Amino acid sequence: MRTHFPLLFFTLSLLLGQSRPDPDPLQDYCVADNKGEFFINGVPCINPDKVSPSHFVTSALSKSGNTSNQFGFSVTATNTVNLPGLNTLGLVLARVDIAGNGIVPPHSHPRASEVTTCLKGQLLVGFVDTSNRVFTQNLKPGESFVFPKGLVHFLFNRDSREPALALSGLNSQNPGSQIVSLATFASKPPIIDEILKKAFQITGREVETIRRNLE
Ligand SMILES: *[C@@H]1O[C@H](CO)[C@@H](O)[C@H](O)[C@H]1NC(C)=O
Repeated sequence: MRTHFPLLFFTLSLLLGQSRPDPDPLQDYCVADNKGEFFINGVPCINPDKVSPSHFVTSALSKSGNTSNQFGFSVTATNTVNLPGLNTLGLVLARVDIAGNGIVPPHSHPRASEVTTCLKGQLLVGFVDTSNRVFTQNLKPGESFVFPKGLVHFLFNRDSREPALALSGLNSQNPGSQIVSLATFASKPPIIDEILKKAFQITGREVETIRRNLE
């Protein structure tokens, strides 16, 4: 009798290798107890008897963020502090304000995929896959784009005068965010010059310049 080990193995590894969102909650809700003194994978819950509707509402995304920084963007996101009711639910909503010609520089979220909707302005968005292929698109208000989990992506406001606004949903309550330029050139303590010189094929002077510009 023929065995189907290779097929079985392949199927199993596909199933096991599947990327999963945050773990499912084991109760209806787990409203964050932000005063918790110990660390678990997430935030502990308050007593369900003490939960009120206000734990499930926030106006955190109602105001535009301050985009006066070198890149010209601001991200305001829901989290377990401003919206304690989202604890363990595996999602976040983020407001992204981008000044005229501002960018959200190439960055990645290690724990979440992201779908972004352009609400105002003209956005050039895109991501790079692991073979360094770039997928970009121009978004008009009402159009959405998805950035797969962990991949480097960016948003650019093509309009030099008008600010742009986008709303992003991410499938983790704590997606994490790593801006490529800051992670490499503005880490604390710094990555030694020798590594950056070789990685980016630049001189020590250029390393210094980039570091200074990113401060
Ligand atoms: C925005 O941030 C800049 C730089 O940090 C600061 O100078 C400015 O006062 C802020 N604007 C507002 C409206 O908070």
